[in-house]
Amino acid sequence: MNIPLSLYVHIPWCVRRCPYCDFNSHEQKGELPEQAYVQALLEDLRSDLEAVQGRSVGSVFFGGGTPSLFSARAIGAFLEQANRLVPFASDVEITLEANPGTAEAARFAGYRSCGVNRLSMGIQSLADDKLAALGRIHGRAEALAAVEAARQAGFENFNLDPMYGLPGQSLRQAGADLRELLSLQPPHLSWYQLTLEPNTLFHQRPPALPDDDAIGDIMDMGLDLLAGHGYQQYEISAHALPGRECRHNLNYWRFGDYLGIGAGAHAKLTGPDGRSVRSTRQRHPQRYLEGPRGRVSSVRTLSQQELPIEFMLNALRLNQGVPAGLFEQRTGLPLASISGRLQRGRELCLISPCADRLQPSELGRRFLNDLLALFEP
Ligand SMILES: C[S@@+](CC[C@H](N)C(=O)[O-])C[C@H]1O[C@@H](n2cnc3c(N)ncnc32)[C@H](O)[C@@H]1O
Ligand code: SF4
Repeated sequence: MNIPLSLYVHIPWCVRRCPYCDFNSHEQKGELPEQAYVQALLEDLRSDLEAVQGRSVGSVFFGGGTPSLFSARAIGAFLEQANRLVPFASDVEITLEANPGTAEAARFAGYRSCGVNRLSMGIQSLADDKLAALGRIHGRAEALAAVEAARQAGFENFNLDPMYGLPGQSLRQAGADLRELLSLQPPHLSWYQLTLEPNTLFHQRPPALPDDDAIGDIMDMGLDLLAGHGYQQYEISAHALPGRECRHNLNYWRFGDYLGIGAGAHAKLTGPDGRSVRSTRQRHPQRYLEGPRGRVSSVRTLSQQELPIEFMLNALRLNQGVPAGLFEQRTGLPLASISGRLQRGRELCLISPCADRLQPSELGRRFLNDLLALFEP
């Protein structure tokens, strides 16, 4: 099978929950069961081996929660054994998410020497008052120190993931923040708009956020700044210096396959019959650890009707879209099965006219929901 394969590993603990975050993360209470969790991850991976036989992993992503709460020894032990179970490609990209509040130079060096070659650092802002408003466990000084520590540890490739539209943020403040982040010359920036997610403290008690017009101004300013500094926007929120795009996320957006292990992780694998199967893992860390029965909480084969929207939800996030042939390769459906909807999208100027690509036009990027609605079953 020539569909690329990635491996996502979820580490579900944080020092403290941030009031805006709805990720599957649980407050750390006492010492983390590192060893038991690594064993559970490996057991989990073994249960998927049959489905990925003969394939190799092109990227690994430790996401969270806060993976940097785990020692380099635990991460290294996992990587070594996982590589024996499903071989990693020789140029494998291995990313680990790190919270600046848990960053120590020594730990970063340890990650680097056990094979992690990309860090993604949760630096929401460099303004102390905004970091406090976001309930972060670190301030500006720790954020700057984390970037320095990453470089010292030999990480040439790293991401920062600041947010904009923060409580009480003005256009000037957002510009100053982004300019300073850019002065750190990160190879990759994920620049997100702060959103109020259901089931978060911010949703219950919303802080005063900039209104839609102010957000529009911040976005225009930010996109100009990023482009002016040589960053290419390749996805809604992802900006990279040349060659520094995140290969792991690109595989999601190109509707590649991925194993997903760890509490609450999602996976998508193409079966021998060419059908895409999505599965999720038990969300609660304790119950996940208790596995193996009940570790997989849901398995669902995607129906032919939902494949077009599933594919487009990913592919149309990319500024360049994807080659048209990828639709058939990844979904098993003929391109002709969506030709009417593509034509409609082109008539509405939401899809670029180029027939050999499935690419959103500038208008389509701005009205992505309208564009996606064309592919709903
Ligand atoms: C798993 S966290 C990154 C690693 C680590 N847990 C941390 O926060 O430092 C993933 C990132 O998603 C983004 N994020 C989380 N909740 C968000 C929200 N409500 N709106 C926008 N971005 C959000 C933040 O940029 C956050 O750093
Ligand atoms: S933003 Fe990061 S540190 Fe904060 S709760 Fe979410 S996963 Fe944990």
